[in-house]
Amino acid sequence: MPGKAGHRFMKTHISIQDVNAFYGDNQSLKNITVEIPEKQITAIIGPSGCGKSTLLKCLNRLIDLTEGARVSGKIIVDGIDVLSSNVDITDIRRKMGLLPQRPNPLPMSIYDNVAYGPKIHGIKDKKELDEIVEKYLRIGGLWDEVKDRLKSPANKLSIGQQQRLCLARGLAVEPEIILCDEPTSALDPVSSQHIEQQLLKLKNDYTIVIVTHNIHQAMRLADYVIHLYLGEIVEQGIASEVLENPKEERTRAYINGTFVADVRIDKVIDTKGNKCPYNFVYAKQALHDLETGRTLKIIVDDPTAVTEVPRGMEADGHEVLSVKQKNKTDW
Ligand SMILES: Nc1ncnc2c1ncn2[C@@H]1O[C@H](COP(=O)(O)OP(=O)(O)O)[C@@H](O)[C@H]1O
Ligand SMILES: [Mg+2]
Repeated sequence: MPGKAGHRFMKTHISIQDVNAFYGDNQSLKNITVEIPEKQITAIIGPSGCGKSTLLKCLNRLIDLTEGARVSGKIIVDGIDVLSSNVDITDIRRKMGLLPQRPNPLPMSIYDNVAYGPKIHGIKDKKELDEIVEKYLRIGGLWDEVKDRLKSPANKLSIGQQQRLCLARGLAVEPEIILCDEPTSALDPVSSQHIEQQLLKLKNDYTIVIVTHNIHQAMRLADYVIHLYLGEIVEQGIASEVLENPKEERTRAYINGTFVADVRIDKVIDTKGNKCPYNFVYAKQALHDLETGRTLKIIVDDPTAVTEVPRGMEADGHEVLSVKQKNKTDW
């Protein structure tokens, strides 16, 4: 791929070419074409249901496990089309480790969780396994916390530690690519920070694709960003450009919408003194005059409007970002 992220040259590792995915008759990915850079963090962002997990599952062919799912197009990794019917799926999954949304440690000890993959791949020597376990627990940022209790069950660990264990387990089979599907959404802020720190270190050696609906996380981690909406790529590019200065109005709206705390307001209307349904009509007229992706702040003083106006707006396909009551009498 031509172009640079900061001073780092971006070379393509995964080339996604015209990928379409269907669950039964429902199309959840439409003509996805994107080049994922090597040894960078690519964030796939977008609202719930837009196809982020589906795209990730196409990469490692986990989509094969969903009955009725169909995928077309090409996904070229190291010269091989992972979507072609004659590839070795075990090879593909080994090449692409998956860190899921919730940690899923195997029902065995901490040690065995990490040693499991290497054992399956034929490593039997105890000393070698010991070294592998230590190495990957260190890379996962968990070694110091567990080195004295390697034989205790993995499920005794905190959720945050379990997630780092899953990272270590995934890395122990030596993938080239790490796929993460909202890997911190089940974690507390400190545990999330641990995972983020590990990912930032890991990108020196691995290509990382992370699905997140947390814009702040994308800003902290991503070199490259893909914004999906309703199964299509709205915008893609260098993270700083897409996140700070998006070309597309929908990306801008998505980014602003996520910052509910400091939404950029494009227009304010004050319906004070107007009862339902007149305040509602007034608000709808103002929305009608606004371009897609813009944000309207509606001030009302009629208590019924606080529930009715947002409900009516949502029924019309607008997104309500927040509803605040200022005090008992001033809505
Ligand atoms: N197993 C499935 N069967 C049928 N439809 C699915 C399945 N998984 C996801 N979908 C649909 O595909 C679309 C994209 O889902 P998904 O990739 O999970 O989105 P995201 O990860 O962005 O929330 C949604 O409309 C969802 O309902
Ligand atoms: Mg998902």
